[in-house]
Amino acid sequence: MRDMDILTVTHPVGQYNVYVGEGLLGRLRELAGVDGRIALITDSNVGPLYAQAIPDAACVITMPAGEQNKTLATVNGMYEQLLAAGMDRGGVVVALGGGVVGDVAGFVAATYMRGINFAQCPTSLLAMVDASVGGKTGVDLPQGKNLVGAFKQPTAVIADIATLQTLPSEELSAGMAEVIKHGLIGDVDLFKRLEIGDSLASFQSLVTRAIRVKQLVVQEDPFEHGRRAALNLGHTFGHAIEQVSQYRIRHGEAVAMGLVAAANLSARLGYCSPDLQGRIEAALEYANLPVRIPADLPPQAQYRAMFSDKKKAAGKLRFILLRDVGDVFVADDVPETAVLETLAAVRNTP
Ligand SMILES: NC(=O)c1ccc[n+]([C@@H]2O[C@H](COP(=O)([O-])OP(=O)(O)OC[C@H]3O[C@@H](n4cnc5c(N)ncnc54)[C@H](O)[C@@H]3O)[C@@H](O)[C@H]2O)c1
Ligand SMILES: [Zn+2]
Repeated sequence: MRDMDILTVTHPVGQYNVYVGEGLLGRLRELAGVDGRIALITDSNVGPLYAQAIPDAACVITMPAGEQNKTLATVNGMYEQLLAAGMDRGGVVVALGGGVVGDVAGFVAATYMRGINFAQCPTSLLAMVDASVGGKTGVDLPQGKNLVGAFKQPTAVIADIATLQTLPSEELSAGMAEVIKHGLIGDVDLFKRLEIGDSLASFQSLVTRAIRVKQLVVQEDPFEHGRRAALNLGHTFGHAIEQVSQYRIRHGEAVAMGLVAAANLSARLGYCSPDLQGRIEAALEYANLPVRIPADLPPQAQYRAMFSDKKKAAGKLRFILLRDVGDVFVADDVPETAVLETLAAVRNTP
């Protein structure tokens, strides 16, 4: 077994380590430097598989799995269980699960008694490479996703890649969409391997390299004022596709289609070579991800949906475009006709 990888993420008030390796859950106290009481927060899928691997938790709080439970009602129930277990500010909240658990538990840790320590044990590929690093936490409202939240930096992130063995294959593919995105944003060599179907021999190096891209971006822009927008590559299209499909299309699949659309739009506007789209499609296909928008999603409806995305800047559509692999930039002035042409071009023929 290869040694674990350690990345040190710096943020405005300190730093924390991200550990990536096999069989790390049992070493949580040592790696995260925890000697107080542990409140373990997990979900109904992950808890039965891995909660017992975390040493001597004072309480285990299990939420029902699924995005539909990423709510203030779930948060409220957790506050009550923390109080009942006598957790105080000397304790630590540990998130064990995918991005939903991480976002909910992080928000609880940010707000319970004005904030208690927080460690992340991501168990989905998406949570390892994306959600667990960067300090964003939060929950959904009926009006939209992630509308309430807080920045809460963890004291450690422990990515035990052995947990990926039980992750359903469609969740693995969803995580690969973000890995491919990270390669496109900032790791040319990672992307070159993914486009030829080389999965880097093990998940460990794949996960570590994908985290490294997110690490560098969030260190540069901890509060999402500028550079961090790059992480939304493929997401202006992706969110619109998710919304118009009424969430029948999952986030990772929509991001995959969005990456293809971003390359198509970039080439259409003359920023990148037309070859880039095909290279991205190859990488996505190796990960069993779709590369065309289903024919039943009308381009006009997707275009309208883009305007309800909370990440648009002052009524303007914001696209992250590509000049090349590893070279992305923000464009605020993309003409409607080009967007509609792209949506038509990357749509499946009916
Ligand atoms: N905070 C951030 O910066 C950030 C970034 C990206 C995404 N997110 C959030 O992350 C969430 C999506 O995360 P996700 O894709 O991990 O979804 P998820 O947490 O719903 O996990 C996906 C499914 O896999 C199951 N699962 C997780 N790990 C498993 C394992 N090892 N074995 C078996 N089953 C396992 C879960 O129970 C769930 O059913 C969204 O709510 C999104 O908003 C947050
Ligand atoms: Zn995403």
